[in-house]
Formats: sequence, structure tokens, C-alpha cells
Amino acid sequence: TAVVEHTFVVSQVNMVHLCKDTLVTVVNGQLPGPAIEVTEGDSVAVHVVNKSPYNLTIHWHGVKQRLNCWADGVPMITQRPVLPNQKFTYRFDVSGQEGTLWWHAHVPCLRATVHGILIIRPRHGAISYPFPKPHQEIPIIIGEWWDLKDLGQVDRHLRYYVADDYFKASTINGKLGDLYNCSGVVEEGYKLDVEPGKTYLLRVLNAALFSEYYLKIAGHKFIVVAGDANYVSPYTTDIIAIAPGQTFDALVVADASPGRYYMVAMPNQPPKPDYQSPVLPTRGILHYSNVAGGSRSGDVPMSPEMPDNHNDMLSFYFHGNLTSLHHPRHLPVPKRIDERLFITLGLGSVCRQGQSCERGAESDEVIVVATMNNISYELPTVSRPLLEAHYQNPSNIDWLQELPDVPPRVFNFTDNSLIPTGPKEEQLEPTSKAALARRFRYGAVVDVVFQSTSMLQSESNPMHLHGHDMFVLAQGSGNYDMQRDVAKYNLVNPPLVNTVLVPRLGWVAVRFIADNPGIWYMHCHYEFHLSMGMIALFIVEDGPTANTSLPSPPVDFWTDGNDNNVMAY
Ligand code: C2O
Repeated sequence: TAVVEHTFVVSQVNMVHLCKDTLVTVVNGQLPGPAIEVTEGDSVAVHVVNKSPYNLTIHWHGVKQRLNCWADGVPMITQRPVLPNQKFTYRFDVSGQEGTLWWHAHVPCLRATVHGILIIRPRHGAISYPFPKPHQEIPIIIGEWWDLKDLGQVDRHLRYYVADDYFKASTINGKLGDLYNCSGVVEEGYKLDVEPGKTYLLRVLNAALFSEYYLKIAGHKFIVVAGDANYVSPYTTDIIAIAPGQTFDALVVADASPGRYYMVAMPNQPPKPDYQSPVLPTRGILHYSNVAGGSRSGDVPMSPEMPDNHNDMLSFYFHGNLTSLHHPRHLPVPKRIDERLFITLGLGSVCRQGQSCERGAESDEVIVVATMNNISYELPTVSRPLLEAHYQNPSNIDWLQELPDVPPRVFNFTDNSLIPTGPKEEQLEPTSKAALARRFRYGAVVDVVFQSTSMLQSESNPMHLHGHDMFVLAQGSGNYDMQRDVAKYNLVNPPLVNTVLVPRLGWVAVRFIADNPGIWYMHCHYEFHLSMGMIALFIVEDGPTANTSLPSPPVDFWTDGNDNNVMAY
């Protein structure tokens, strides 16, 4: 094993797309940011130098950070944010995991441009994948191009109803592609050179703030072999459905007749009438090179046939078809259950003054928030990171509000007859804001059912848990019904993920083992739900021994809170 070191200088640079000069915050001048490539078991040290005007942290999405919650990178939960002109070093190991993960800024919206891929290769001598060794490995990072001047400062509330805030293009590896042009200038697209007969491993990441994507390559199939750095049984498909936060590894064999083929990433959008937004796909080209008799690069590339952009059933099937590969790294699903949570995901309203608003209140008095069990997460301004306070004495954070096992009352579930049809403001449940948390005994086996509600009739929810992987036991449409649906659970080979897609108007059931002491974010990876409070803290208590307890923090974590305008605790 080795220590892999990187320096990430976060700064603002100008990028020109669609004839518009835009100031974007990026790492080392690149979009996407630098890839981190390591071998399982390596230690990683990343020195973050903040030359941007924003307070920020970097989160290592999907890295389990076992007994190392301190490096998880969530502001005021695990650390103080890195202020402009400050430096901060993250140190963590990547052991017991292999595959594709990623890293991103963990402050609202900034991750649209502050992100990159994190690749963990198996340790054994020559690479030992549970599939034929690919000729080449290719990151495919899907993103969105926003031309907002100050993406780091987007107002968290309501703004996503404003059409101007919609992204302007989709991207593959930072390139917009030839579907976009202005004043006669065609945007450059991503180009992948392949050799006939060779196999490529695509490491696909959805780093977008907003959209689920469908990915297709004309004339080619994918063999999906992993998701979220866990191997899956090889699954052959002509389409990949990927939600924000997810990663999939897929083999592509260059077995078509040598030529040029479009690779298209298209947002999978919620149905009308909510979304009249433009369809903004991006395309790159798969180009056969090294072809005997010369390549035919003059040919018009072949286009894949894309589904309707409102078709969410293909995504439902794609996710439902994945099973875990039998592999020494994968633990069996525990059969015991210690805790059950039923979490409804919704939108709600609070009054600007802070109390809850009645239905029908004047819309300018109402702030739209995103909720779990009808409570929207909001952390008061605190004097030091919660993890630090918790480490000193768990009772220091007794004031957090307990996430209830079940919603306060059964309301607006996805019974189609209950879907309100009035103006948006009238569909919103009055709700409240709180610092929402749930404590788990070390080693507890926890079942969670996530239920989308009719408040989210138009949206799916990619739910992400820090510090743990979750077994995906089952998904369904409509309302979850325990009597009926428990029988559908896959307890044999459920896939393991860090980000699970809760289908629009449906539910998903997961199981995880709370075996990593610390305070972990659990949230929707759809940026606007995240910014609007669809978050809870999962607190895993210490176990009985040193290797089941949170160790002391790295020395540089201890600094005194010195801000007067904060809640002392
Ligand atoms: Cu990828 Cu809490 O995030």
C-alpha cells in the first residue's frame, strides 16, 4: 500500500460556453476536477487550498471512512468549513472497497463544478476484476452546465421554480457537445477512440445537481458490472439510468462495424405539466480508430434511439434488475432487524417568520422546504462541529430533534386520487424546521423504507447515506404496504449502494448495519431537495471496544469557536 497525495487548489476561472463568459469555481483549473486513482488499501492525503471566495469542504462520496468520520467533509458536522485562503488536509484510507466513487464540494450548489472521480482498483498483483480485464478504463462524468454568475451563492429557497435557474446544457467530461452552438460556434464534444474488438470499462458518474440521466451509445451495449463501488451480476443493457450521486461501471465491447457512433446522455425529466423545461441532452462520439483499411471518420455518426425524456419506467427497471455479484468482498445480508424506519419524502411549507403556514397562505409568505417525515432539516448556527461536541460528550448534542420512526400522520401518500391539482402553494403541507437526527446503537441492523409522497409527484429522490452502504431489498410503485411488500425483499443478492433511487410515486426498502461510529449525513442528492432540507443526521454510537469507537480527531481539528453570533452548547 502507498500514500497517494494530491493538492487541490480551489479557485475561480473563466470558462466560455454558449458565447458566455462565466466565472466558475473549480479544482486545479479543471472541470471536471482531477481524478484520484488509488489501489485498495492505500492511504490518501488531499491538501485543499481554498483560493475561492466560498467557505467549503470536500466530501469523499461513498468512501466509508471507517472509524474516520472526521474526514467525511460536511461543514459544521464533521469539521469547520475551510475559509477563503485557508488550507485543510484530508487523510483517509480506501480499504475494503473497490470501484468507482467520487469527491465533491459539500456546500450548496458548488458541487456542480467542484467534483471529480475517485477510482479504487483491486490490490492483487495484476488487476483482478471479476470480469475480463478491459483494454482501457474510461471515466464518463455526466454533469450540467449552469451559467449562473455565482453558483456558490444560489438562494436556497424557491429559486428552482424560476426558469432562469435551469441549467443550460448537459456535459460529458465537461464538454457540451455538438448539439449546442451559438453564433455559428459549435461546442466541442467528448470523443472516445476505440479499437475494433477491444473491451472498455466505462466508469460512469452522474455529478449533476439536478437531473437523472439516460446514457446510450448507438450500436453498442453495456454490461454493467458495478454500482457505487460494489460489484453487481453482469447485466447487459443498451441503456444506463443514473441518478445524481450514483456511479456505474460498465463494459463496452467495440464490436460494431468500424465507424462513428454517438454517445448520448439525456436528462430523464419529471412529467409535464410541472416541467416545461427544455430537453438538454449532450452527445459525444465513439470513434473507431486503428481500423484496417483506414477509418471512415467522414461518416455521419449513427445516433442511438433515445426514450421519451419523461419515461421513468426504464429507470425503474434498470435499477430493479441489478443484483449483487457473489464476491468475497460482499457480506451477506443480515436477517435480523433491530430498528425499522418509515421515512416519507416530501415538500412542505414554512412561513417566513418561522412558524408553519396554513394551507392557502399568501404565497410570498411561504418558503418551500423539503422534508423527511414532514420535518425539514435546519442546523442552527453552532460554535463547533457537532462531531467534536459529540466526541467530548454525547450528551452535548441531546438537543437535536429525533427523527420519528414513522411520519406524524399519514398524509398525501402516492394514491393518485390524492394528488392535488391546485397551485403549488396549496399542495404544500405545513411543516417545521429542526436539526433532525436519529441515533443508532453500534452494530444495529436498520431497515428503512423511503416513500415518495404526492408532494413529490414529479420527482424521484436519490437518497445518499454517508459512511455506510445500504442493501437495496426491494422497490415498488405506489404506497408501500408492509404486509404485501416484505415478501418482495431480496435477501439473497441485493445490490449494495451508497445512493439509492426512490422512484417517483414509489418506495424503496433498504437495510444497513450501523457499524461506523460518528455522525453521518443522510440526504437526497438532488441539490434542491438537499438545499431545502431533505436531510437527517444518522448518529452511530460507539461500540464497546477501541475498534468499534470513534478515535480522537486529528490534532488540527481542535480550535475554539470564536464567533459570538452562535449557539453555545
Ligand atoms: Cu455526495 Cu452528502 O454527498
